[in-house]
Amino acid sequence: MFLAEASACTRCTLATTRQRVVIGSGPHDARVAVVGEAPGRHEDEGGEPFIGRSGQLLLRLIEEELSLSRSALYITNVVKCRPPENKTPTRAQLTACQPWWEEQFATLTAPLVLTVGATSSSALLGEKIQMSEVHGVARAWRGRTLIPTYHPAAALRGGPAMVEVLRSDIRAAVSYL
Ligand code: URA
Repeated sequence: MFLAEASACTRCTLATTRQRVVIGSGPHDARVAVVGEAPGRHEDEGGEPFIGRSGQLLLRLIEEELSLSRSALYITNVVKCRPPENKTPTRAQLTACQPWWEEQFATLTAPLVLTVGATSSSALLGEKIQMSEVHGVARAWRGRTLIPTYHPAAALRGGPAMVEVLRSDIRAAVSYL
């Protein structure tokens, strides 16, 4: 029911430009839920979250630091459809999509949530966050532990030093698994 309804969603304007609704992937009993912003071009074509270049970086770091492969993670985004030109989702798009991630979290048992990027971190926490101040710092969220970190696209743009920041934020998750 959820999948059929979400796949046919027309709650916002992205329904007119997307190819696929990218709902999420992975087992509902995964120990870690990874939450990004919105699908990019590769995800819009392939229907899976984080299969493009930034996803490959993120998943490599998670594998190296947490010894968890893609199949052991639940991966999703706060917006399920690609914004044209990969624009940051608007408030209206985030609001329209929130019931979908709320429904997803109702079925997930992950004790640890890794939000990547300010958009997903702010959406889940319900407050505007300054990533430079909060990244890598665990906080309680709805009976789980949430760790916000930079989006891997920012790490790709920022070069090796930024990749190491993302890596060390991910490493901070070890003690919560
Ligand atoms: N960026 C995201 O935030 N999510 C994806 O699924 C891909 C790229």
